[in-house]
Amino acid sequence: MMKRDRPERPERRMHLGAVPYGTGGPGSHTLWLDPEIPGDASVDIDWFTDVAQLAERAKFDLVFIVDSQFITPYSPPHYLNRLEPLTLLSALAARTSRIGLVGTATTSFNSPYNLARRLGSLDLISRGRAGWNVVTSGDAGTAANYGQAEHADYDTRYGRAEEFVDLARALWDSYEDDAFVRDRESGVFLDRSKQHVLDHHGEHFAVRGPLNLVRSGQGHPVVFQAGDSEQGRNLGARVGEGIFTHAPDIPSGQAFYDDVKGRAERLFGRDPDHLVIMPGVKIVLGDTDEEAREIEAADNERDHTFQAALEEFGRPFGWHDFTQYDLDAPFPAEALKHGERSFYTQAKAVTERATANGWTLRRTVEATRQFRKSEFVGTAETVADKLVEWWHARACDGFNVGVDHPANFRRIVDELVPVLQDRGVFRADYEAETLRGHLGLPVPVNRYATTG
Ligand SMILES: Cc1cc2nc3c(=O)[nH]c(=O)nc-3n(C[C@H](O)[C@H](O)[C@H](O)COP(=O)(O)O)c2cc1C
Repeated sequence: MMKRDRPERPERRMHLGAVPYGTGGPGSHTLWLDPEIPGDASVDIDWFTDVAQLAERAKFDLVFIVDSQFITPYSPPHYLNRLEPLTLLSALAARTSRIGLVGTATTSFNSPYNLARRLGSLDLISRGRAGWNVVTSGDAGTAANYGQAEHADYDTRYGRAEEFVDLARALWDSYEDDAFVRDRESGVFLDRSKQHVLDHHGEHFAVRGPLNLVRSGQGHPVVFQAGDSEQGRNLGARVGEGIFTHAPDIPSGQAFYDDVKGRAERLFGRDPDHLVIMPGVKIVLGDTDEEAREIEAADNERDHTFQAALEEFGRPFGWHDFTQYDLDAPFPAEALKHGERSFYTQAKAVTERATANGWTLRRTVEATRQFRKSEFVGTAETVADKLVEWWHARACDGFNVGVDHPANFRRIVDELVPVLQDRGVFRADYEAETLRGHLGLPVPVNRYATTG
């Protein structure tokens, strides 16, 4: 159990990420109607650049690009047509200078050498600002896009993820930092003793190495993780340096925080401060608390109609079609089997809640709509109070702020961030050059280095 009452480190800072959802992510089916959002925002590099530059002006730690590779006609607008994260982030690297650049990449449908190379390249292009959100792909349908009959089960895909991350890190150490001598006098380009072959033969992969790339100033890209199952939490606790999650309130945030940091410390001997936990939050600002609540209610009503919620409801269940059932019959618990290789943790939680309460399908879908009410709605002062309360209570170390309506995000930057800065919890300016520096994470020592 973590000690919640341990003294605050004087340098502890709140961390902020911006998560752009283009034309609208899950539950935001009508965001694209906002006249300020270009109809093709999710494939428009200028739109992403505007968001990233605004977030950088506000000294955010990072911008985070989520991803998936399986769609249906019911997928949210942003998912239907969007840029590949690492390609997008490479362009943002050239148009920003300080903000961290984090992208989702799956370990289920990539090879370690190729992905380590692409992430390492992003890290060099951005001069040490890259981050990798390691996922195993919850959308089971992705398998069919890679010539596979079905998605691997949880143990297999998380086992692959464990080996994959270890391999990527080993490949990033292929060259010691002083391997390239480049001495014009002697004509020595490389100190060959400082280039290392991996020669890995494991359960899932065989990789010889070395990777043809040096390390950036931050050593390795920062590894983030977002799985919630037992296997996912253990992966996060062992290899995660940042954890993305969702928490509806402070007690559940604290329970997750204690659990994952406790696992990191207990099972893997890690310093819990070297793992930054950032739940995603929806922030709605208004001139008064009442006005902000009204904006939130109107947004929710418009963005997530019952029909849209019903159509999207099947995603954790392997995109099972729930429109085929009688809405007023008991919740069809047998549908859970369709989620076994998808977002099973989520599908199981929904099914158990519906069954325990004896809900109909209609009531269950309604519950997912009500769940959308956020704690972070009000004036800038009100929302700052809430964010600080969560952070002080160690329900998290920071927040991933969803970027929805541009006017709302501008208010977050112009009104909310200054309040957090005045209260001394959020940086007034960047103190570091790299993402690792922003997050207070150590630079990993090269495993082959023999000297300081
Ligand atoms: C905040 C957050 C962000 C996530 N981002 C992605 C993502 O971009 N792509 C993806 O395939 N899965 C994403 N996931 C899903 C998880 O990584 C994981 O695959 C899924 O939750 C199913 O595994 P689990 O049962 O271990 O949680 C995200 C989850 C959370 C909580």
